[in-house]
Amino acid sequence: MKQTIYIVWSENNNLGIPIVDEQHRGIISTINSLHYFMQTGQSGEIIKPILIMLEQYTKIHFKTEESILERVNYPDLENHKKLHNNLLAKTRNFIIELNKSENPAVLLKFLRDWWLTHINIEDKKYASLVKSILNI
Ligand SMILES: [Fe+2]
Repeated sequence: MKQTIYIVWSENNNLGIPIVDEQHRGIISTINSLHYFMQTGQSGEIIKPILIMLEQYTKIHFKTEESILERVNYPDLENHKKLHNNLLAKTRNFIIELNKSENPAVLLKFLRDWWLTHINIEDKKYASLVKSILNI
């Protein structure tokens, strides 16, 4: 079977804030692992720990990002946090519903679209403020 990487990281996804970019790449890489194991038809026993890993990584990443945004007094922080909390609730739900889940492709597509849109639209809104205040 031909194996392809689900989401190829593009330099355009970088914000220029090293720790944030590093974590974004890590999250995308975790989604790629999830894709690999789903595509090869692995059972929930394999898939569930990866989803839990993704959830934990997402939590740590959002904490990192939100603490940076607090430091720079990002004016839209509350809305940004809501977007984060919403995704965390959905990720939790995926874990709970894993056994009943219809089509893994739907889950993967949701995660891919959410993350790429969030990084390229929502996160890019704060990038220049953070870089100028933190001198990056
Ligand atoms: Fe974010």
